[in-house]
Amino acid sequence: MNLLPTLDLDRAIFSRRRALKWGLLGIGTALLASTPKIVMAQTRAKTLTFNANDIGILNFALLLEELEAAFYPAALKSGKITNPKERDYLSEIGSHEAAHVAFLRQVLGSNALFQSRDLSLNAAGLNALLTSRDKILNTAVTLEDLGVHAYNGAGPSLTNPTYILAAGSIVSVEGRHSAAVRELAGRPSTEPDRDRLVQDANLAASLNPFKGRAYDELYTPKQVVAAVSSFKILNNPINGMLVA
Ligand SMILES: [Fe+2]
Ligand SMILES: [Fe+2]
Repeated sequence: MNLLPTLDLDRAIFSRRRALKWGLLGIGTALLASTPKIVMAQTRAKTLTFNANDIGILNFALLLEELEAAFYPAALKSGKITNPKERDYLSEIGSHEAAHVAFLRQVLGSNALFQSRDLSLNAAGLNALLTSRDKILNTAVTLEDLGVHAYNGAGPSLTNPTYILAAGSIVSVEGRHSAAVRELAGRPSTEPDRDRLVQDANLAASLNPFKGRAYDELYTPKQVVAAVSSFKILNNPINGMLVA
């Protein structure tokens, strides 16, 4: 099954610029992990505060996109993905994530609460996700599945029609990403219940009235933050009513 049939690497806009932004180009990630500057960054990372309103929600989506957009260049740079088809997929998906970041920043305009340079990656945490081809692909599966749950969960709270359109136009792409990386990883193309980071007992009932009749349950921002934190790739503290 080929879910991304028209790979065109000329359209990949992310690689060098984003890798530079995150300090990943030309420096092995293992070296990054031992660089004192990274430790310094852990104590100075800007706190990200998300209020429980449209602006908070869309900025939270932006954060997820930033993490996805950082992950794929690092995955390609790791040297663990050698199959050309897999590299093409990850490259293409990475270009989508960079486009999502740019798009959300355009939609938010002056309401963007942080710049990309304000985000501080935890190099050790990132390295731990890049130790093998399987680890990378399975991390990608988790990230993409989480993106779908997060956008779906945020949707009912959005009131600004432009923001709703923006989020809706992205979530369907995240669903395709999920299916694509699941295919690469040899896993079911839709997420089985057993793969979910949030199990039935902890799903918000108000967000999930259709449980058992549809895939892609809705997660609250708080649940998404907990999942993101489990990756240990972001040094920035996260707070605010949206995730309280
Ligand atoms: Fe994305
Ligand atoms: Fe994605």
